[in-house]
Amino acid sequence: NRPVLLGIAGSLRQGSVTRGILDALAEAARVQVDLRIAPLDALPLYNQDLDQDRPPPAVAALRHAIIAADGLVIGSPEYNHGMPGVLKNALDWVSRPYGHSALKDKPVLTFTASPASTGGVRAHAQLNETLAANAARIVRRPQIAVAFADAKYRDGHFADRESFDFLLDGLGDLLREIAR
Ligand code: FNR
Repeated sequence: NRPVLLGIAGSLRQGSVTRGILDALAEAARVQVDLRIAPLDALPLYNQDLDQDRPPPAVAALRHAIIAADGLVIGSPEYNHGMPGVLKNALDWVSRPYGHSALKDKPVLTFTASPASTGGVRAHAQLNETLAANAARIVRRPQIAVAFADAKYRDGHFADRESFDFLLDGLGDLLREIAR
């Protein structure tokens, strides 16, 4: 049985490079893993008043999908040197109830992608910090920050072999972390 991985992209836009990279990974590794992308579109803004006995359906669905997955692949763009609110909002939702975060002990591979030469490294550091706060099992490996990502990803196809192999190496590290 293939491990089930849940992909989370910190961008909602149709032509998202981050989302495209996740789709390309799912396609390239489909023999080894079942990688599905979680929709974040229907999540409301976090509000502790809504986070009571019965959370909003999109929140419950995301929490369950994370708990059911063997591991996560979280890809993020960088917005103003941090992770986009869309992603932080999703992580805040699933971090609760306090002490019962869906992310706790979950193996997670993270990457960032940006058209800039910096590849989103500041968002990457912030993302890993938030995951650390949730005691997630962040895959320890050389940082995956895809620079000049818009030039490498075109029309649903990842054109840069070296960057893509580095991402696939990361996926291999995630599978080893899951097997541990
Ligand atoms: C950006 N972008 C950006 N890029 C970066 O490397 N560092 C940054 O601080 C920012 N800041 C930023 C703020 C806002 C509000 C937007 C909309 C964009 C550019 C960003 O990397 C680019 O739009 C990516 O293509 C977004 O990722 P997706 O949507 O293609 O996955």
